[in-house]
Order: sequence, then structure tokens, then C-alpha cells
Amino acid sequence: MLEKIQAIQKEIEAYVIEGVETLEQFKLEFTSRKGKIATLFDDLKTVPNELKRSVGQELNTLKQLAQARFEEAFAAFENTTNAQQSVPKIDLSLPVAADQYGARHPLSMVRERMIEIFSRLGFTLGEGPEIEDDWHNFTALNFPENHPAREMQDTFFLAKNPDIALRTHTSSTQIRIMESQQPPIKALAPGRVFRNEAISARAHCVFHQLEGFYIDENVSFLDLKKALYHFVKEMFGADVQIRFRPSYFPFTEPSAEIDISCLICKGKGCNVCKQSGWVEIGGSGMIDPQVLENCHIDAKKYAGYAFGMGIERIAMLKYQIKDLRLFTENDVRFLKQFSNLG
Ligand code: DAH
Repeated sequence: MLEKIQAIQKEIEAYVIEGVETLEQFKLEFTSRKGKIATLFDDLKTVPNELKRSVGQELNTLKQLAQARFEEAFAAFENTTNAQQSVPKIDLSLPVAADQYGARHPLSMVRERMIEIFSRLGFTLGEGPEIEDDWHNFTALNFPENHPAREMQDTFFLAKNPDIALRTHTSSTQIRIMESQQPPIKALAPGRVFRNEAISARAHCVFHQLEGFYIDENVSFLDLKKALYHFVKEMFGADVQIRFRPSYFPFTEPSAEIDISCLICKGKGCNVCKQSGWVEIGGSGMIDPQVLENCHIDAKKYAGYAFGMGIERIAMLKYQIKDLRLFTENDVRFLKQFSNLG
């Protein structure tokens, strides 16, 4: 019996376990219920009583040896298969995947460029709320009650309270800034404005404006012309012409519409400029003294100019975009074209 035990011990020690199959084989031969060791345990009953104890101990040691070899081989085998599975196969010859960068929205780019140009003339940045009251959007700007100019702007009023509306222009911010500061004031107010218009290639119910105004002693129309002349040359290039066309706004006197020479036909006449050679980019004028007084600014001492421009308008002219709806549809094929434009 002891000889058999020793022989099996040698066999176990010499056994080469290489893979799943030899491991299975080892298990069958030694550690399974019908293996060689289990058979020896069965034979234990034939051993004389006085030897049973010591032979039993030897058998137990043998069993533990077989079990230990099995577990050791099993663990090693498991580690190598796990390691093989967890290392992803990398093809180092593949080209690098291009990074996907987001692009700035053309309106943000144009707005920032406009602000940059004016801030070099000393304008600071202000802002006001999109939900306005009648005073700031209309009354303080000299729109009398029931004046048709209020309808001209197709206002969205709050049904429950017609004193509250979505601002129809950024001129409301002029009032807010003038109420809270004394001249000299030189400020810009960019923002979103709302009008009850049907959406088409040329009109939208939500769009953006940049308002600017300057109030000080002795500010004149010449100062307004100089500032806008500078802006147009910086924004569109030195060969673009600017003209001021007499117009009417309740809050400026005199008032003028700002036109620039058509960028498409260079002033010769085309569809974009309706054959006139000129396109409008905004309104302007000298702030009406009554508007200054409405904001407690002494109109005898101070004068001011103001202007308001459509940001979409400027972007459409600069990048020759023909449909206003493209700005809000968020089609990436449109948006990503502007990523490299300064
Ligand atoms: N608020 C006017 C509009 O939306 C534009 C405008 C005209 C603004 C003349 C001004 C201005 O500041 O002086 O149609």
C-alpha cells in the first residue's frame, strides 16, 4: 500500500499539465471520485488495523498534494486566458481617428467681432432683460400710446398683462442703462429680440440686434458717422461704401437708416440689393432730447447718438447667407463651415 502511495506521489509530481485537456486528464486520474487516490481510500479497509492510522495519514497527504497541483495549474491557466482576453488587439498601422471639434455659431462669431470693433472705440458692454415692460420698450422711447409705430413692431404681449412684452428691439436697454448711469455713457447692448412675424427666408420671430449709444457734452451727428464709418470698414473691408438715408424713429431726431454698398454686385445692382446697389444694415440717429429727459439726463447739457443693427443681417451680408432660417435650424453642415473664419 505504501509503495502504491509513493508511486502515485511520483506520478503526480512528474505530471506535465499544459492546457485544459491535460488538466482534465489529471483531474480524472487523481482527484475525481473514481481516480487512483479515491480507489486507494476504498482499499484502506484491507489494511490491518494497527497500520490504518499511518496509512490513512499518508493517503491524506497524497490527496492534498494532488489537490494542490490541480489548483495551482488551474489558477495559472485561468490567469493566462484572462490576460489574453483583456488585452485589446491594437492595429498600430491604422491611421489616427480625426478629432471632432465643435464650431462656433456664425452669429456668435459676428456678434463678437462687432463688439470687438466698437470696444476699440471705447464702448463698454451692457445688457437688459428679454421680457420688458411697456415703459422701457416703448413709452420712454417716445412711442406714444396707440401710436401706429407700436404695431409696426408686431409685439408679443403677455395675454394677462399687456404692460409686459417680449422686447421688440434692444433700444429698451438704452433706457435701462441711461436710468442707472449719468453721462458720459458709451455702451453696447447685444441681445435677442422678438417680433410676431411669419418665419421665412427674410423674416423670423426671433433675431438678434446690437445696440450702441454715446452720450456726452457736444456729441454730434459727425461722431455717429465716424463711428459707423469705422465699423463698416473694419467689418466688411476698406472698399465698402456707407451712406445715411433720412428716416424716422420715435426716439431719434434726426434719424437715418444705415446702408452699405452691396457686397455681391459692388454697387452695380443685383437681386440682393434689389438693383439699388445698397443694402440696409440698421437704424441710427441723435437721441431725442425728450428720451434723455425721460431718463433724468439733462438734455440741455448732454447730447447723444444711437444705432441699432441686425446681427443676422450683418452675418448674411458678410458670409452671403441667403436664408435666415439656417441660423436656427442647427444643421451641422451649415454650422461647421464657419469654424475657420475670423
Ligand atoms: N430699434 C430700431 C429697430 O429695431 C433700430 C434703431 C434705430 C436703433 C435707430 C437705434 C436707433 O438705436 O437710433 O428697428
